[in-house]
Amino acid sequence: MGRSERVAVIGAGYVGAVTAAVLAHFGHAVVLAESDLYRYAQLASGKSPIVERDLEELLQEGLASGKLRVVNSAAEAMPDAEFVFLCVPTPQGGDGSADLSAVKLVLGEIRTLLVSHAVLVMKSTVPAGTSKLVTELLERPDVSVVSNPEFLREGSAVADSLHPDRIVVGVDDESVARRVAGLFGATNAPLIVTSATTSETIKYAANAFLATKLSFINSIATLCEVAGADVRDLIVALGYDKRIGFDFLSPGPGWGGSCLPKDTAALVQIADSFGFDFAMLRAVIAQNDDHADRVVEKIRVAVGGTLAGAEVAIWGLTFKANTDDRRDSPSVDIVRRLGRQGATLRAYDPTVAPGATESDLEGVEIFSSPYDACSGAQVIAILTEWDEFRNVDFYKVGELMTARAIVDARNLLDPIALRAMGFGYSGIGRP
Ligand code: UDX
Repeated sequence: MGRSERVAVIGAGYVGAVTAAVLAHFGHAVVLAESDLYRYAQLASGKSPIVERDLEELLQEGLASGKLRVVNSAAEAMPDAEFVFLCVPTPQGGDGSADLSAVKLVLGEIRTLLVSHAVLVMKSTVPAGTSKLVTELLERPDVSVVSNPEFLREGSAVADSLHPDRIVVGVDDESVARRVAGLFGATNAPLIVTSATTSETIKYAANAFLATKLSFINSIATLCEVAGADVRDLIVALGYDKRIGFDFLSPGPGWGGSCLPKDTAALVQIADSFGFDFAMLRAVIAQNDDHADRVVEKIRVAVGGTLAGAEVAIWGLTFKANTDDRRDSPSVDIVRRLGRQGATLRAYDPTVAPGATESDLEGVEIFSSPYDACSGAQVIAILTEWDEFRNVDFYKVGELMTARAIVDARNLLDPIALRAMGFGYSGIGRP
C-alpha cells in the first residue's frame, strides 16, 4: 500500500462514485462532492444512487472507516485536497461534440480554492486539447492539469477500477504522472504516461474501437443469416485467434449506453474539427442505426407482417444487463421504432417498476414479471440479456401468449427446445 493522500472527487455519477469508493478502499482520505441534493443524501447515508455491483458495500466501508466523506458542493471538498478528480458528465451537444459546460462550471467554483500545487485530474471524457483549455481557464500556474481517462464498464465498474487493464496518465511532467499513478498503487496495471492530448484521444479511440467491433460482428451476424451460417460457431473460431479475442463479439440489438454512442459521435466531430472526415466511424454509427431497423423487421415478420395494433412483449429495457441505466439503450430505441409503427408495447425489466413515468417509456405499459408482460402478446422481443430470461417457464409463457413467437436479440435461448414447444424463434445470426 502506498502513502495515503488527500483526494477530492467532484461528481458522483458512475465514474465519480466508483473512483471515490475505490480510492478510499486503497487507503486515501477521500471527499466526494455531489451537488444534487437527493443523490448527496443517498450517498451520505451509505446508499448507492445507482445499481452497480459491490459499490454500496465499498461506499459503506469508506464511510465507516472515515476514509470517505460526502459533501454537497465542490467548494467544500477543496480545503487540503492535493488531488482533485473531475468526474462530471460531458453529454453529447447538439452537433455531436462533448458539452463541457459542467466542467467549466466546476472550474469556476474551485479555481481560487485549489490548494497551492494541487493536481487537477480530468476523468471526465473530454476532447483532445481540453486539458490545455482547462489550464488556461484555471489561471493557476501552480496547479498541474492531468488527463486520466476511465475505462470502467457499468455493471462491473468496481472490479474494473480495482483491477484495471491499464492506467493512462496524460501530462508533460513525468513526476506528476507518477504521483497520480501512485494513487492506484495497489494495482499492478501497466502505466502509460503520455501527453494530455494523446491521453484524451486514447479514451475516444478505445470506445470507438469497441463500437467498431460490435458493428462488425452485428454485420457478420446479418451475413450469417442471409448465407445460412451460424454466427455462434464463427465467433468461437474468431475468438481463438489471439489477435481478435473473444470479448465484444456477442451480436445483439445494437450497441448503446452512456458512452459508446456519445463518444463515437464526438470523435467524428473532433476529427471534423481538424478537417479529417472519419468516414469509417460514420459507417460504424450508421450500421448501428440500420441494425435496429433489422431487429424491428424481425419482430414485424414474427407477428405476421404488420406491427400496427400488434401486441408486442418487450423483455429488457436497460442498455445491457446488470445496470439500471437506459441512456441510449438499444432496447428503448427499438421500442420507440415499434411504437411509431403502431405496436402495443408491454414491457418487463427487473429495474423498472410498473407505473414508471419517465419520458423514454411513454406509451409503454410496464409489468412486474416477464409472464405478465407476455400475457396476450403475439411476440416476445428479448432485448436485454438479463439472466432471469434464461430460466423462464416457457410452457407457461406459451399458454399466456396469443401466438407463440420469440425474437431473441441477445441469443439467450435454445431454439431447438422452443421450437419443440411450438414457438417460432428468431435469433441474431443463427439458425
Ligand atoms: C463502455 C466501455 O466498455 C468502457 O470501457 C467505457 O469506460 C464506457 O463505455 P459501458 O457503457 O458500461 O462501457 O458498456 P459496454 O459494456 O461497453 O457495452 C456497450 C454496449 O455494447 C451495450 O449496449 C452492450 O449491450 C453492447 N455489447 C457489448 C454487445 O452488444 N455485445 C458485446 O459483446 C458487448
